[in-house]
Amino acid sequence: MKVIVKKDYENMSKEAANIIKKEIEKKPDIVLGLATGSTPIGMYEELIRLHKEEGLDFSKVTTFNLDEYVGIDKDHPNSYHYFMKDVFFDHINIDMDNTFIPDGKAEDPESYCKEYDKLIDEKGGVDVQILGIGENGHIAFNEPAEKLNVGTSIVKLTQSTIEANSRFFDSMDEVPKTAITMGIGSIMKAKKIILLANGKKKAKAIKELIKGDKITTYLPASMLLLHSDVTIIVDEEAYNG
Ligand code: F6R
Repeated sequence: MKVIVKKDYENMSKEAANIIKKEIEKKPDIVLGLATGSTPIGMYEELIRLHKEEGLDFSKVTTFNLDEYVGIDKDHPNSYHYFMKDVFFDHINIDMDNTFIPDGKAEDPESYCKEYDKLIDEKGGVDVQILGIGENGHIAFNEPAEKLNVGTSIVKLTQSTIEANSRFFDSMDEVPKTAITMGIGSIMKAKKIILLANGKKKAKAIKELIKGDKITTYLPASMLLLHSDVTIIVDEEAYNG
């Protein structure tokens, strides 16, 4: 596990964007695994700048998002579909037919989850997976628990995640309590994983992860210790607390 500590959020974001840029230049038809949330926004902004000012080409890129709330329409302003278009896809030359985000309104969620993992495999698997991390150590929406799901699944969000997500909603009642998320196994299949974290709130989870001596389902991110190509990019606040 490689750890890169950057001075601040901006430098963390640029470091991640530059790694992705190099990977796209090496393999123009790369499959990227993408995350939502506050953490990767700066990275998306830098990728948009690289597209507009330096011609970074997304025309052959395929993307798979980690997760989506259950029961939320794709055009709802708090859906991850909306977020991805608003923050990233609308500003680059990606073919929207090559972007995949779990459908929070799938009619048959169980078989849909299996299809999502199958589709990732059919597209050749994720080359580079971007991850954020929850304050409680979750990755995607794989929350700390006695057992973790291997494949894409429907999951209940923990109270701490519901509270963390409530900042985007008008009231706690509106925050979805379930989500569809790629499982730990789906994530671990990625050839390369980049986990980003910034701010003091992430310091505890990052400290435990970087210690690197134990894996536990109660710190889902610790499963990444079993992967052979993980880079953690953090700002000083997330590193030092
Ligand atoms: C989002 C996701 C989540 C977030 C995590 C951190 O697609 O998978 O695991 O990465 O909750 O969220 P932020 O970045 O908002 O602190």
